[in-house]
Amino acid sequence: MTGTTGTAGTALGAPAERREGRQKVTGTARYAAEYTLPGRAHAWPVPAAIAHGRVTAVDTSEALALPGVLAVLTPGDAPRLAEPEDHTLALLQNPKVPHRGWCVALAVADTLETARAAARAVRVHYAPEPHDVTLVTGHPDAYEPEEVGGGYPGRLEQGDPAAAYAAAEVRLDVTYRVPPLHNHPMEPHASTAHWDGDRLTVYTSSQGGSTVRSVLAQLFELPEDHVTAVTEHVGGGFGSKGTPRPDVVLAALAARHTGRPVTVAYPRRYLPTTVGHRAPTVQRLRLGAHPDGRLTALLHEVTTHTSRVREFVEQAAVPSRVMYATPALLSTHRVSALDVPSPSWMRAPGEAPGMYALESAMDELADTVGIDPVELRVRNEPDREPGSGKPFSSRGLVACLREGARRFGWAERDPRPGVRREGPWLTGTGMAAATYPAAAQPSAAAARALPDGTFTIRINATDIGTGARTVLAQIAADRLGAPLERVRVEIGHSDLPPAPLAGGSMGTASWGWPVHDACAELASRLAAHPGPLPAEGIETRADTTGKADADSPYAKHAFGAHFAEVAVDTVTGELRVRRLLGVYAAGRILNARTARSQFTGGMVMGLGMALTEHSTLDPAFGDFPEADLASYHVPVHADVPDIEAHWIEEDDPHLNPMGSKGIGEIGIVGTAAALGNAVHHATGLRFRELPLTPDRIL
Ligand code: MOS
Repeated sequence: MTGTTGTAGTALGAPAERREGRQKVTGTARYAAEYTLPGRAHAWPVPAAIAHGRVTAVDTSEALALPGVLAVLTPGDAPRLAEPEDHTLALLQNPKVPHRGWCVALAVADTLETARAAARAVRVHYAPEPHDVTLVTGHPDAYEPEEVGGGYPGRLEQGDPAAAYAAAEVRLDVTYRVPPLHNHPMEPHASTAHWDGDRLTVYTSSQGGSTVRSVLAQLFELPEDHVTAVTEHVGGGFGSKGTPRPDVVLAALAARHTGRPVTVAYPRRYLPTTVGHRAPTVQRLRLGAHPDGRLTALLHEVTTHTSRVREFVEQAAVPSRVMYATPALLSTHRVSALDVPSPSWMRAPGEAPGMYALESAMDELADTVGIDPVELRVRNEPDREPGSGKPFSSRGLVACLREGARRFGWAERDPRPGVRREGPWLTGTGMAAATYPAAAQPSAAAARALPDGTFTIRINATDIGTGARTVLAQIAADRLGAPLERVRVEIGHSDLPPAPLAGGSMGTASWGWPVHDACAELASRLAAHPGPLPAEGIETRADTTGKADADSPYAKHAFGAHFAEVAVDTVTGELRVRRLLGVYAAGRILNARTARSQFTGGMVMGLGMALTEHSTLDPAFGDFPEADLASYHVPVHADVPDIEAHWIEEDDPHLNPMGSKGIGEIGIVGTAAALGNAVHHATGLRFRELPLTPDRIL
């Protein structure tokens, strides 16, 4: 089934091809740095060379002497900004240096090469102060935040966890470590800005253009309708483009200062300190259980860091509030504000590191009590969400476990660790569960029917590579009873009806809802319309404010099960992944082709998390030595085996009119634990720190 365009009523779920696919592979799709406006200049940032202190002087004379240099913006002379809510955007406003890599000057020139040369010629003088970038448990400055990422309470305690754990017949007390990780989307962060009087237009690589518009309006003290944000094509983000980043603010500052359109295309090696990272976590898991594997206590305590610029707390203990039945539950976070770059969202923030730890610990418990790990999870299936007491809108975990086990051939598995040898290789299999919240945010959309029998859908959604245009067309075509090819979709422009970001696995649910509603109304208007349509057609609008964000009596989550087979070279410590299989229960799947891409993409990212990806905070210099793709190792084709993604269609009436849950993040969630558990099955050894590089395994 390729190239399916769908017919009336059948477009939803079909594996329709990405509408912009041809544009992308032929190079005609335009990205933010490719808007070559007349007189366009380029800017190159100057990163701070100290981890803590302040700038005492900036000598720009050598830089300004280079032919073609237009300006060097410094903390002393850059245009003033209103105080932002997100202080990572208070750029060039004061001489403080909160971390190494913080932008301390910006060189603007006719060409990219000249801007880069000028940035290198800027001499910055500092008054350094001692810095601390090292995450330790029991840090003297550590505190328990009220709220963590995703807006969850930092602490949740039910029953008497300490007493229940102390009294448990079976006890497991283990600590897992996940290092800092970086998003590294294929397209580095970039923006082109230009001013027309007091009107600002930006072409920017962002997951959410409506937020870019409102943040820029606030920073530059403009009415929102004086700002236009265009996000036509975006080369990935994984959370790092979820909010406006320094590139768009610096481009707007430089354009205002020079009177020219300016592009800021962040060099990849500056991304790690500038656009967020997944904060490192130290996660202590204590599981108390009956000898039959049923939990009596689950204690998940997370220690992590944030920066001194902005509090962001990776909510890694939150998934323990969703997964398993237990009479006593503790889920807490402790954080220290260090002199580190600001952490932020990275694919499945919270769930990816948190489920690595919880699902590894569950595997250790399965081992301890001598129960099959799939069976152990089934035995601990709750009838309500443990953390909230709410019923689940739908919960397909057991179905995923059973279907995954069947497809993977789990029944034939010999549970003994360390006994399968092929020459120097030891082989093994492992599994883990996955979960991710299913949510939606308010959004608006417009639908128009034209006299020629075509339709136009307008919404400021963003396509970060997932196929948003395509799936929104499918939702519209399905509701209108129209062929897919008759539906046009306009997205990626802030003059369109406002929409939330492509993030939190909420994009399609949020945007599809008003598209569905506007099309439903349009269909009934058309049915009632006598004769031909007027030349401008008929338009309907929908807005889900008050619907999409209404409090629900249900706990809403997608679930999944991951199965993996690995081989470990006992001579070199090399770890090879042989098979990866995921089965998901994520509501209704709206496009089989793009959904499979999302699931397998998440699994590849989880494979990277397990095997190769890590950043280090260098205690001497205070930032990440892994600043490019030669040192930050994302998986390449040779690392990735045949990956299978399957799903169980759920009919969940409590979500949104499409019945869909998000699918962008759940693929990463259980993958690292499944691989780690397979390594234990292969070798008989437990490694509790990621990634599983040869030096750790040997
Ligand atoms: Mo996702 S980390 O919410 O873009």
